[in-house]
Amino acid sequence: MIERTYVKPEIVFNEETSHSGIEIVNVAQFCRLVEKQPDWLSSLLTQAEMDYCAGKHERHAGRFAAKMALIKAMGVGLQWQEISILPSPTKRPEIQLTGKAAQLVQDNGFITLPLSISHDEGLAVALVIPTADNLKLQVGIDITSCERVGKLLERFPVLFRNKRFTKKEIDQSGNDPVQFAQKWAAKEATSKALGTGFGQEGVKWREIEIIGQDRGTYSVALSGNALAWAESESLHTWNLTIIPNVKTPIAVVIAHA
Ligand SMILES: CC(C)(COP(=O)(O)OP(=O)(O)OC[C@H]1O[C@@H](n2cnc3c(N)ncnc32)[C@H](O)[C@@H]1OP(=O)(O)O)[C@@H](O)C(=O)NCCC(=O)NCCS
Repeated sequence: MIERTYVKPEIVFNEETSHSGIEIVNVAQFCRLVEKQPDWLSSLLTQAEMDYCAGKHERHAGRFAAKMALIKAMGVGLQWQEISILPSPTKRPEIQLTGKAAQLVQDNGFITLPLSISHDEGLAVALVIPTADNLKLQVGIDITSCERVGKLLERFPVLFRNKRFTKKEIDQSGNDPVQFAQKWAAKEATSKALGTGFGQEGVKWREIEIIGQDRGTYSVALSGNALAWAESESLHTWNLTIIPNVKTPIAVVIAHA
């Protein structure tokens, strides 16, 4: 059996966005299932998805997580082959539906299916929030390895901090790899909700500032190219939740107009 945890985001904006699905998949367990039943993978993913994944198991597992997240968000079973998750020209993952799945989404009044995927440390996570046309909404999810961030912090103490984090973030994080990893995940999730990642549209790490507030909440402040891009996309409100696992924090960002 694949171990999965289902965490329903607490953020609910209104009737149009009251559906959401989130999924986490253990990549090693997923691979064991695939080894036992080789045909299962090709029943799960379309040929175009198989071609895109190019044999990378974390990508296979990410697409499985995304399809499960969509099924949870819709609240009904869907045919695997009627869902295809492929990158847009800017590399943002996009859900393409055919047959009954497409009809069901249309019947429920959903126009867009914002999706985000992440994989790290042998885990794949995905978040989907089906949305009606009158709401501009984007999502971002990121899982980050504290161990990897800790190694970078140890190896390049000054460069690592100064290239990716603002003074406020550095002051708040001290020498704690977990705090840096949480902020790292939040920055990547924000860049995914922007749809740019880092590099595209000139978005830089320090233009996304993540500051811890009271009671485990965080603020997202954008500047420079990140802010300009958010404004051009009419994304004015940024909600961030961090699931603070010590080994692999997960950041979930929901941006809307
Ligand atoms: C988007 C970005 C943030 C992805 O981060 P990542 O840590 O490399 O990878 P993750 O596993 O978290 O996410 C991968 C997913 O991001 C999504 N993604 C990629 N580009 C995206 C974009 N422009 N918008 C939204 N989502 C995007 C894809 O769904 C991808 O999944 P796939 O490969 O299965 O298709 C990446 O563009 C980036 O800029 N990474 C910075 C990497 C870096 O600087 N590393 C330093 C190491 S020292």
